[in-house]
Formats: sequence, structure tokens, C-alpha cells
Amino acid sequence: MDRRERLIARARQGYRLAFGVEPTRFVAAPGRVNLIGEHVDYNEGFVLPCAIDRETVIAFGPGAKDAKVPRLEAVALDMGDMASARDGFDLAGLIHRGDNNWQNHVRGVIQALGRYGHRIRPMRMAIAGDVPIGAGLSSSAAFGVAVALAASEYSGLGLAPEKIAKMAQIAENDFVGCACGIMDQMASAASVAGHALLLDCRSLEHMPIPIHRRLAITVIDTGLRRSLTESAFNERRAECEAAAAHFGLTALRDLELGRLEAAHAALGPVLYRRARHVVSEMGRVEPVAVALATGDTAALAALMREAHLSLSADFDVSLPPIDRLAALVAEALGEAGGVRLTGAGFGGCLVAVTHKDATGAIDDAIARYNADADLPARAEIFRPSDGAAPIVLG
Ligand code: GLA
Repeated sequence: MDRRERLIARARQGYRLAFGVEPTRFVAAPGRVNLIGEHVDYNEGFVLPCAIDRETVIAFGPGAKDAKVPRLEAVALDMGDMASARDGFDLAGLIHRGDNNWQNHVRGVIQALGRYGHRIRPMRMAIAGDVPIGAGLSSSAAFGVAVALAASEYSGLGLAPEKIAKMAQIAENDFVGCACGIMDQMASAASVAGHALLLDCRSLEHMPIPIHRRLAITVIDTGLRRSLTESAFNERRAECEAAAAHFGLTALRDLELGRLEAAHAALGPVLYRRARHVVSEMGRVEPVAVALATGDTAALAALMREAHLSLSADFDVSLPPIDRLAALVAEALGEAGGVRLTGAGFGGCLVAVTHKDATGAIDDAIARYNADADLPARAEIFRPSDGAAPIVLG
């Protein structure tokens, strides 16, 4: 049994145990790693993530026959035991917040679908996943996109990936309380295997960019987690909005470097640095896309080093041990590839895009770091994977 088959088996068995019948269908939605364009999505610029070969699988089927009102019932197999990790709510009434996060991802998606006029038929879901939780690989986007796709499939809505992504984002924004952008959900919904997804976060137009055969994508989990992630994230977003408002813009996407430099004193040091990160990061997205397609590891090394510095010094979302690890890996790689902090930051993961033969250098650097680190870091290679889709069982 491969990784996906094990997930399907777990979802199927969970469904059977929870609801006493067989599920009728399955969907899957992957996590993601962002390669460049960090903290750019909610500033409406371009980003370049790719889906990874870790995902949420949902087994689903019709609602209980004896139910008096149309209900959605869900069991989240990674969130507790069969009794505690269950939820059920009336599809015809107002949908309220649940007691915990995962329930709000389900409730929020169904509520968003309703708000856009989509009727969901009574259904039941069993949800299982293997995207590491809290590691910056978007387990929650995978979860939300999978719920939206399962609902769309079961009710015959045929929603496009952009709409699926939007529903999952609204759930996070309105029900879970994280002011995240659209990148993670779009990466989960619309990626193509072997490619990164060049996404315009303003129009949601997107294009797959081939990742050269000689490249490997390694995610290095620092093990560091900062508990205030959501409030710190929302604060960064508010700072970016304040900087854009200073220029009378709706988003920093439309800010040019010259205009930013001229307003340095008026903006103040913090907003200036936040905006400088966003503007400089936007300038790195296209060159990284070209370097990915051509396998230019020297260009990746330079661009990703700049990106990391910018996230650390201007956007203040790194931590000293992460800077140390990034420097060790960059030094070990030389021109064989690049490394930088990925995702929201405040802990989490580094991503390295390197020549396939250079992954040993990453392991050596990690061993040196771990020799006197409080928390050991570990590396894993991920395959750029397809976005969310129904699972066709052979
Ligand atoms: C988190 C958010 C995304 C994006 C990144 C930073 O993953 O969910 O929308 O803002 O951080 O690039």
C-alpha cells in the first residue's frame, strides 16, 4: 500500500466506524510549500508555490436516512477519538461557530458556499490527512479545500478551482479568524504535478511553471513553533495595509521602489521595512520562475538568499536559530541551490531548491546545526504534486 492508499483506507474505515455504512466517493487536496513570493498574496502580487505529496483525503456519502432535518455530519480522524472529533449541523439553518478549529473549517466552508447561493445536499464525511500540522505546509488549506471539493462534488456544483479556493479562504478569514491570503488554497486547488504555480493573487489567473528535472525541493522543519502565529500574521497584514493606504493604494502590489524610497521618513521605519520587503519580494518572483524552469541553481542561490534576508530583516518573521540554519545550509550549498524561510514564518520551515545531487550537503548542514540546537531540525524531500481532485478508484 502506498501513502495515498493508506490514507484512503483510513478514511474509509473511519467513515464505516462513524456512520455504519460504506462511503460512496473520495476526494483529496494537498498541502503546499511556497517557493517565492512570501507575504505577497494579501498584497495582491504574484506568488510561486507548489503542491506537495501530502494531503487531506475525505471519504463521503449521503446523509443519514432517518435524519429529520438536512444535516452535514463530519468526523475528523486526526483530531481526536471517534466520540470527540465529530460534528454535525443543520444545513437549512444558520451555521454557527463550533468549539474548535477543525469544526470551523468545515462549518465555515459550508456557510461560505451557502452565502454564494450553493445548496449542499445532506452528506457525511470522514476526513484523514498526512500534511504535518502546524509546520507551515498548509494543512488547514488542504483541509478546507478538501471539504469544499467534497461538498461541490456531492451536490453536483462543479465548482472551478478558484471558487473552491475562495470558499476555503473565506472559512479561514471569517470562521477561524486568520486573515490569510489566497495563496495556500489556490496552490492546493490548482497545482499541476512537476510544476510550481505562478499565481496572480489579484486576478487569480495562474500558470504552471515547469520545475527542471535536475532540481529537488527539500523542506527543512526547524521544529520551532510560535504560538502567536495568527495574531502576528494579522498584525503584518495590517501593517501592509497601512503602508498601502499611506500611498492611497488599495494594495502594495502597485507600489514602486522609487515612490517607497521617497516616502521613507513619512512612513516611519517599521512600515517602510514592511513595504520594502513586499516590493523587493515581488521583484524576485519572475526571476525565480525562470531559474526553476531552466534549472539555474546559482540564480536560485542568490535570489533565495536575498528573500530570506528580506523576511528576516525587513519583515521580522524569522527567529535567530532559523537565520543560523539558513546560513549554514546556504553555505553548504554554495551555487548548487538556494534556501529560505517559507510560509508565514515565526517558526516553521525552510525550503531549499537545489540540484538533486546537493541534498547531501543539506543533511551535513543540518547535522552541524543539530549538534548544538535546542530543537533538532529535519529535512524531507517533497514531490511537486497535482492539486485537489476526486479520487478515481481503480
Ligand atoms: C500563510 C498564509 C498565506 C500567505 C503566507 C505568507 O501561509 O496563509 O496566505 O500569506 O502565510 O506568504
